[in-house]
Amino acid sequence: MIQVPELTSVTIVALLSVVVGVLLTNKIYGAKSQAQALPLPPRIPVPTHWLFGQKLPLKYPSLAIAKWVDNLGPLISMTQGRQPVVVIGRYKAAMDIMERQGGLLVDRPRSIAAGELFAGGMSILLTPAGERFKRMRRALHTHLQPKAAEGYEHLQMDNAKTTILDLLQEPDQFQNHARKYAATVIQKIAYGKNTPSPASDPEVQSIRKSFDVLRDALRPGAYLVDSFPFLKYLPWYGRKLRREHEVITGVYLRQLDRVKQELKAGKAGLCFGSYILEHNQEYGLSEKEIAYLAGAFFSAGSDTTAIAICTFMFAAARHPAAQAKVHEELDSIVGNERAPTFADESKLPQLQAFMMESMRWRPVVALGLPHRATEDIIWENYVIPAGTTVYGNHWAISRDPQVFPDPEKFDPQRWIDDDGQFRHDIKFPTFGFGRRICPGLHVANRSLFINAALILWSFRSSLHETEPIDDLSLSVGIVPELPPSTMKFEPRIDAKELESIMEKYPEGM
Ligand code: HEM
Repeated sequence: MIQVPELTSVTIVALLSVVVGVLLTNKIYGAKSQAQALPLPPRIPVPTHWLFGQKLPLKYPSLAIAKWVDNLGPLISMTQGRQPVVVIGRYKAAMDIMERQGGLLVDRPRSIAAGELFAGGMSILLTPAGERFKRMRRALHTHLQPKAAEGYEHLQMDNAKTTILDLLQEPDQFQNHARKYAATVIQKIAYGKNTPSPASDPEVQSIRKSFDVLRDALRPGAYLVDSFPFLKYLPWYGRKLRREHEVITGVYLRQLDRVKQELKAGKAGLCFGSYILEHNQEYGLSEKEIAYLAGAFFSAGSDTTAIAICTFMFAAARHPAAQAKVHEELDSIVGNERAPTFADESKLPQLQAFMMESMRWRPVVALGLPHRATEDIIWENYVIPAGTTVYGNHWAISRDPQVFPDPEKFDPQRWIDDDGQFRHDIKFPTFGFGRRICPGLHVANRSLFINAALILWSFRSSLHETEPIDDLSLSVGIVPELPPSTMKFEPRIDAKELESIMEKYPEGM
């Protein structure tokens, strides 16, 4: 007679493990063969050069990408140098891939020009996924998470007030006032610096220059070394990048050194620099890594914030009817005897919608930053093979007619629901995607809100009738160099009265 073994719990677990194992193996191999059978997304119609791959236009590459997305579909592929690249240009595809499958896109592609020659492997922005990256993000989080961001309210209100007083004095210099706001707030959070950082400050200028060099080096296909890594070892190759590396390292080390001296003298204020110097045993970062991480506040957070502030100032001047709707809301909720504060935010859906629409209309980081697929990613009928560089193109996504009908129209009402409230069911990826999403977004959003609220409450802005302007220049990713006379700022209440309200701000509100 056949003996049936007794089904002990151990046997049951063993049997289940075998069944689960077989199922999983089928799933993995099934998925693999499914992936292999699927095509890559459609290729862009640009001839492929054996050395450079497919060249994107130098001016406004995102406009060309958006056109290809219109013609070819939500995902398009191309070759940059020798590297396969997939660009996502529609909202649903971006959410499905960059957010829901975001765990497969935490990595960054190797970037020799920007990441190694210019940043010396130190910039978190270009650091590959892994344990070191996690330590860096965890350290940044201490000073950028929502709770920490709330703690900067007073600092942000105080400096937004300065922007209003500066605009009253020198309206033509609006871009420099935005730069000064952003640099002063970031310098305080990063280094505890208590004095203003005007746009003319040599360190602010060095950071801006380095931001331009980085942006240029990140441009797909900009440097041959990203396709032919051996070039890195030629001492005469990439001289400009190496020189800028030395300059910017010097700036970051000097800033950190100031904090060290203040710590020694017992005078250091609460800031990221003093925190990280005192708690580095938890993070195990080298001196240079610390300097670069503190520098990341400045380099990633100041020009971006200034551009965003200029963008909504400009959007208001360009779209008087939309501006008037925000004025109406501010008048009814805040009135003209006090200025708006953070406490008003949830009562100002029109203002929130106006800000969101400005960020959609002229995205600050139009091209997006490169992510790297660490496994094959399947989306609908396409495969994005492991190793591919993946961009979520902010500009093309902002022009998705399914989510943003009539996308060229500046229409803040698309962000308002039937009850007149700000919509939370869609969002625009101003701050990027998944686990690489901008860690500074809470601080940045608060800066944008308080500046938008105060500037729009204080002024009616308009365009100078005789100055021709290229409003697409807002989308090149640096603070737009609009001629100073492009915008006018007319106080909405008596200028003296405005000054006196600002002098009491924020305490007296
Ligand atoms: C309006 C202002 C800002 C905009 C539009 C912006 C946008 C972005 C975007 C698009 C990314 C790339 C996300 C991705 O890879 O998908 C990014 C990364 C980053 N941002 Fe921001 N940012 C802003 C302000 C800030 C501020 C204020 C800080 C710091 C205080 C900051 C620090 C960083 C850092 C460190 C990264 C790199 C993160 C990583 O690679 O893991 N940003 N930002």
